[in-house]
Amino acid sequence: MDLATFHPVILFLALVQVVLALVEPPANVTLECHNMHNVLRWDYDQLVPGLRFRVNIGSIGGSPNGIWVDSPTKQADVSFLSDPSNEYIISVTAVIGQNESGSAPPDAIEFSYFKDALSERICSLDLPSVNVTTLHDGKILVRFMHPWLLYKTNKPSSQKKSKRNKDGQISKELPVFRYMVEAVHQVRPSITSEVAYGIDKA
Ligand SMILES: *[C@@H]1O[C@H](CO)[C@@H](O)[C@H](O)[C@H]1NC(C)=O
Ligand SMILES: *[C@@H]1O[C@H](CO)[C@@H](O)[C@H](O)[C@H]1NC(C)=O
Ligand SMILES: *[C@@H]1O[C@H](CO)[C@@H](O)[C@H](O)[C@H]1NC(C)=O
Repeated sequence: MDLATFHPVILFLALVQVVLALVEPPANVTLECHNMHNVLRWDYDQLVPGLRFRVNIGSIGGSPNGIWVDSPTKQADVSFLSDPSNEYIISVTAVIGQNESGSAPPDAIEFSYFKDALSERICSLDLPSVNVTTLHDGKILVRFMHPWLLYKTNKPSSQKKSKRNKDGQISKELPVFRYMVEAVHQVRPSITSEVAYGIDKA
């Protein structure tokens, strides 16, 4: 092969390296994700004019996406990345004009609310407050709000608009979730029950 054909490529790669080296990547990138409230934060030393940050978002089956943050803000609300059936990958890049840094952290952050996801970060929900009522025939009634209704809806920051029907209810079906009721301190042997609970709010 002719060496000359390589030269532009090598030159281009070298230029990319130089350009990348000019803009420092963000440091100390952390993701908080709990109760469908997700915030990505990072540090940056030199807040020069025109500095912007691009939050790079990938998801399973979704096309890559980015949101822009102007400095001096060094955080982004990504609560809309809370679909329990999806896994996300996120990183942040510093951009000055045409020049940009490498993305940080280098391996990006993978996260999901799906408990069996392969992501390094599994985000969690607190169980909503539970009302327990004893019924006359030895049964108990356990009542609590569906976590999706508690944490997901009425989120002004949510980018995906929930479709509401005429009655103002969420027309999308609520995701099924499981919970366990464990009886302790009872005369008969303890019974553990697991109940799949999905409501189609009517
Ligand atoms: C990253 O965090 C470390 C430890 O808290 C701190 O010393 C350092 O200054 C931070 N980096 C930036 C760019 O702020
Ligand atoms: C981008 O980097 C080049 C050098 O590679 C520099 O000449 C140019 O001024 C930089 N642009 C900005 C907006 O910083
Ligand atoms: C639990 O009980 C309180 C007080 O009676 C009531 O306000 C609340 O709505 C109940 N929550 C559920 C989920 O039933």
